[in-house]
Amino acid sequence: MSWDEAFASRYDEWSAHMTADIAFYVSLALQADGPLVELAVGNGRVAIPIAQATGQRVIGIDSSPAMLDQARRRAAAAGVELELLEGDMRDLALAEPAALIYCPFRALLHLPTWADRRRTFERVAAALRPNGRFAWNAFAFDHRIAARLDGVHQAEPVPHTVRYAVGDNRVDLALDDGAKSSLWWATKNEWLGLLDVAGLQLEALYGGFAGEPFTDDSGEYVFVARP
Ligand SMILES: C[S@@+](CC[C@H](N)C(=O)[O-])C[C@H]1O[C@@H](n2cnc3c(N)ncnc32)[C@H](O)[C@@H]1O
Repeated sequence: MSWDEAFASRYDEWSAHMTADIAFYVSLALQADGPLVELAVGNGRVAIPIAQATGQRVIGIDSSPAMLDQARRRAAAAGVELELLEGDMRDLALAEPAALIYCPFRALLHLPTWADRRRTFERVAAALRPNGRFAWNAFAFDHRIAARLDGVHQAEPVPHTVRYAVGDNRVDLALDDGAKSSLWWATKNEWLGLLDVAGLQLEALYGGFAGEPFTDDSGEYVFVARP
C-alpha cells in the first residue's frame, strides 16, 4: 500500500510544516511558458500558489479521489482554477506538451519499484516541450535518522509510527488512526540512471530548496532536468 485513502483526512495537518519547497517550485513555474503539470498533486498545497503566481494553466494529476476532492475545495476557496485529473503518474499522457512537470514532497517515492519510476520518467520525457523542465525532490536515506526514528511513536505533526524495511528500501508510515503510507527511497545514482534511460539531462542537483549545493551531507535531493 503506497498511499491509503484514509491518509487524506489528516493530510492538511501532516503537510502543514512543509512550506520551504513552495517558493522553489513557484520560481521554476514563473520561468516556464506553457502548461504546468504537477504529478501527485495531493491537496493542491503547491499547485494553488503556482496558479496564483503564474496565472498559467495548471494540471494536477493524482490517483486519490479523496486528495483530489481536497484540492478542488482548496482551489475554489483560493479563487483559482486547477485542472484536476484522477490518474496514475505511471500512465502520464498529456494532450499538449508541458513546459514544466514537477513532483514535490517526495511523491515519486510512492512508486514501489525502479521499473515504475523508469516508466514515469519515460512518460515525463515524452510529455515535455523541447525546452521544458522536470523537477522533483526526494530524501536521501540517512541511517542515523532511520536508527533514531524506527519504531518510535511520534506525536507530531499527527500521531504516528515509522518503520524502516531496509531490505526493500522502504519506510512505512502508520498513523495512530490506522491510515498507512509507504515510501521507497532511492540513491543519487538511481535517480541519475532514471534520467539516463529516459533520455533526460541533468540541469541541476541542489541540496535544498534555496539552491544550496548538493554535498555528501545533504539530506534532500532537489533535481531539475531537461529533455
Ligand atoms: C505526499 S503527497 C504529495 C502531495 C503534493 N504533491 C504535495 O506536495 O503536498 C503524495 C500524493 O501522491 C499520490 N500518489 C501516490 N501514488 C501515486 C501514483 N502512482 N500516481 C499518482 N498519484 C499518486 C497520493 O494520492 C498523494 O496525494
